[in-house]
Order: sequence, then structure tokens, then C-alpha cells
Amino acid sequence: MYRQVLVLAVFAAFLCGFPASCARNLNYRPIIGILAQENLEDDPRAQGSSYIAASYVKHLESAGARVVPIRINRTKEEYEKLFNAINGLLLPGGNVDIEKSQFTRAAKVFYELAIKANDASDYFPIWGTCQGFQQLTVLTSNKNLLTLTDTKAVALPLTFSPGAQKSTLFKKFPKDVLQSLAEENITSNFHSWSLSMQNYSSNAKLKRFYRVLTTNTDGKKEFISTMEAYRYPFYAVQWHPEKSPFEWIEKDGMVHTLSAIKAAFYTAHFFVSEGWSSKKWKIQYEE
Ligand SMILES: *[C@@H]1O[C@H](CO)[C@@H](O)[C@H](O)[C@H]1NC(C)=O
Ligand SMILES: *[C@@H]1O[C@H](CO)[C@@H](O)[C@H](O)[C@H]1NC(C)=O
Ligand SMILES: *[C@@H]1O[C@H](CO)[C@@H](O)[C@H](O)[C@H]1NC(C)=O
Repeated sequence: MYRQVLVLAVFAAFLCGFPASCARNLNYRPIIGILAQENLEDDPRAQGSSYIAASYVKHLESAGARVVPIRINRTKEEYEKLFNAINGLLLPGGNVDIEKSQFTRAAKVFYELAIKANDASDYFPIWGTCQGFQQLTVLTSNKNLLTLTDTKAVALPLTFSPGAQKSTLFKKFPKDVLQSLAEENITSNFHSWSLSMQNYSSNAKLKRFYRVLTTNTDGKKEFISTMEAYRYPFYAVQWHPEKSPFEWIEKDGMVHTLSAIKAAFYTAHFFVSEGWSSKKWKIQYEE
């Protein structure tokens, strides 16, 4: 009898430590920040001066992250404090000036802090979608090298670069998901501007910083649709994984097939798992 109780007690202690540490061991992370952006002045649906589209929040939450909003037009000190409390950043799609907006100003603060943190061997991932992708190209090159493409509302299959399936982003994707991404028209494109392969290749900073994982074309210009940084956990897609499961607007280029939704889930799962590598998460978990 005594032995059974002891075994039970040891087992209980093993499960969650002593009661005080039980709560501490609950997993409250990763926490991912999503950057807000200015509302367009002529947007009839706009409420207030800035917004975050719900689909990006749902996208990350669907893969187990907790999400916090990062407001625009805050002080650098506030951003630094916030940076130290989160495990990653998502720069969403949208329609602001990617050189002069408050969105850009905040993105630059976080980008520079992320570079510093990663250089100091912490791990701070950044994901850019559509405008977020474009913003990253400006932050890395200090130039706007984008060009107009005919890609305003179209679903495309990705053209994978050689070796891209072994990239950090794609290497854990199941084979059927990679195959769907490569063969079916399931990536939603809603952009007027793109980074052409030509401008990428002729800009030393971009070329040294990012590896091209996939490209697409509008029939005239080849542009980059997915890339990841070589030395930093920074990832960017010109397409919209969050739209397939979470946005229901009747327009060309929206895709709600099972394979599109499965691909969307793997992108969310990938980025949230990057947040798990952040040291801040480990510190909280181990303390
Ligand atoms: C925030 O916006 C106001 C006006 O919109 C401006 O006066 C102020 O300088 C901005 N603050 C920051 C920190 O950018
Ligand atoms: C390259 O970038 C410039 C801006 O610096 C832009 O005007 C031009 O259209 C771009 N060309 C291509 C082919 O992307
Ligand atoms: C499917 O993608 C191809 C490019 O590979 C494109 O030419 C075509 O217009 C797309 N079809 C639809 C229905 O979007």
C-alpha cells in the first residue's frame, strides 16, 4: 500500500511538479506580434485610424500561437519593450506606403532589433505576407525596387527553385502539400507590385540576404513569390496563405479547396514552430 501511494506521488510529481510549479509549466507561448497599419482615408469600412485584418490573427492562432497587436505610431522605447516580450513578428498584407508610413517606421524598428537579437544568438523570426514581403525587401535593400505586375486577383501554382524543397521553410512540408503548391492554382495573389527576379539579381544586398524559394510570372515578368533569409529566420511570401481558410470575399483569386487550406495550415504551423525556437520562450518555460 505504502509503495503504491509512493509510486502515485512520484508519478504525480513527474506529471506537473509540485502544485506551485504546475501553473508555471503551462505553455503560454509562443506569442507573436502582428503589426497594425494605417487605414486608407477613403476606406468606407474603416473604423479608427489603424487596423489588423482578422485573418492573420486566426492564421497564427490556428497553429497554436497567442497573438498580440503592435500598434503604429508608438515610441521606440515601447517597441523595444514589446520586442523583448514576444517570440516573433508577422508583417501582414495591406496597402500603405512602404517607405514613409508609420507601418514602415515600426517595421524598421522591429527588423533592426531582430537582426541584433539573432546576431547575439537569440532567435527572433519574422514573417512577411504580401505587403510584408515587399516591406522586407525595402528594409533589407534600403530601396524600393518593386515593379508593377498584372497580379491583382489571381491564384497561381508556385514554381519551386532547385533545392527549395530542402529549405528551412519547406523542408518539413508533407510531399502532397508541396505537390499541390507546385501543381494547383492555390496561392492567392492580390498585389500590384512585385520584386522581379531581374531586380533581385542585380541588387547585391537582396541577393546576399535572401534565397529565392519560388517564383511566378504574370506572363511578362518573373517575380519572387517565396523567399527566406540565408542567415536569419526571416520568411516572406508574396501570396496569401491566411486567405484560404479565413477570408470569404467573392473575388477572383480566392481559393477554398482542401489542398489550399492544408497548405495554409502548414505555413502557419511552420512559422509558429519558429517562435518555439525563441529563447524568451525557453526562459519562461524553464524558470
Ligand atoms: C503619432 O502621430 C501624430 C499625429 O498623427 C504625430 O504628431 C506624432 O509625431 C506621431 N508619433 C510618433 C511616435 O510617430
Ligand atoms: C527595378 O527597380 C526600379 C526601381 O528602382 C523600377 O523602376 C523598375 O521597374 C524595376 N525593374 C524591374 C524589371 O523589376
Ligand atoms: C493557373 O495558373 C496559371 C499559371 O501557371 C495561369 O496561367 C492561369 O491563369 C491560372 N488559372 C486560373 C484559373 O487562375
